[in-house]
Amino acid sequence: MDTLDAMKRRHSTRAYTGEALTAAERATVEALVAEAVAGETQVSMQFAAADGTAFDARFDKVSYYGRFKDVPACVILASPATPEGLRATGHAGETLVLALTGHGLDTCWAGGVIETADRTIGAESEEFDAFVEHSAEPVDVDALTDAAARFHIAITLGHALRPGHPHRSKPIADLLADGTDPDALPDWFAAGMEGVQLAPSALNRQNVRFAPTAGPAETHTVRVTDVGGLLAKVNTGVAMLHFEQAAGVPVEFVLD
Ligand SMILES: Cc1cc2nc3c(=O)[nH]c(=O)nc-3n(C[C@H](O)[C@H](O)[C@H](O)COP(=O)(O)O)c2cc1C
Repeated sequence: MDTLDAMKRRHSTRAYTGEALTAAERATVEALVAEAVAGETQVSMQFAAADGTAFDARFDKVSYYGRFKDVPACVILASPATPEGLRATGHAGETLVLALTGHGLDTCWAGGVIETADRTIGAESEEFDAFVEHSAEPVDVDALTDAAARFHIAITLGHALRPGHPHRSKPIADLLADGTDPDALPDWFAAGMEGVQLAPSALNRQNVRFAPTAGPAETHTVRVTDVGGLLAKVNTGVAMLHFEQAAGVPVEFVLD
């Protein structure tokens, strides 16, 4: 499955069959996690499989879209709570999501999972303790909590109980920065925007805007602006990954 196929097939899955991952699947996830963070200086990822207990209890307060059910495993991502860290989290996490999709696993980002007021958790929080306790894998607590301000988010994964369905997407014209003519987009840019339409975003807000912009000759330069709102910077990293994968050419981003 190529990446564009994976983008089309990916739908957020909140209800899982409850089946544990096989040893082979776990090994695949571990390998894909390693690939997704290779060369990534901002983001760390930690795989955690349920040990048969109510792992999804940690997820049940999260969703406006229906509760998470029988989540068999998740990957927790941690990064500095900076704009760069949050964008890198979205980019690396969505790299993982598409790779997992390509391997037949269903996923859902879960932004509210380990939420406190500042959307970070400390090693002392009850939620963190619950995560560590319910994980069948040894959890490297230091790796997740070593910096003073860490942002944490989860990606749930497993096998879907029901097939997912495509989300409603804004038209491309509504995902362009103000002043961009939707009828005068270069082909590579229009292709990239189709990827953006397929990108997941918290509460499906799609709060990121794109515009082609002048850059050095022979480059494909894109200006990216988030319009604020829930997890906008994480959504931005996710949408950038979709853009560059769908555009089919090397892309330079200029961030507003
Ligand atoms: C950063 C991020 C955080 C998200 N957090 C949650 C969440 O806490 N609970 C949930 O049910 N869905 C969450 N989602 C999934 C979105 O609701 C979903 O991507 C959106 O509704 C579009 O649907 P689709 O992913 O099926 O295309 C999150 C998505 C992203 C990108």
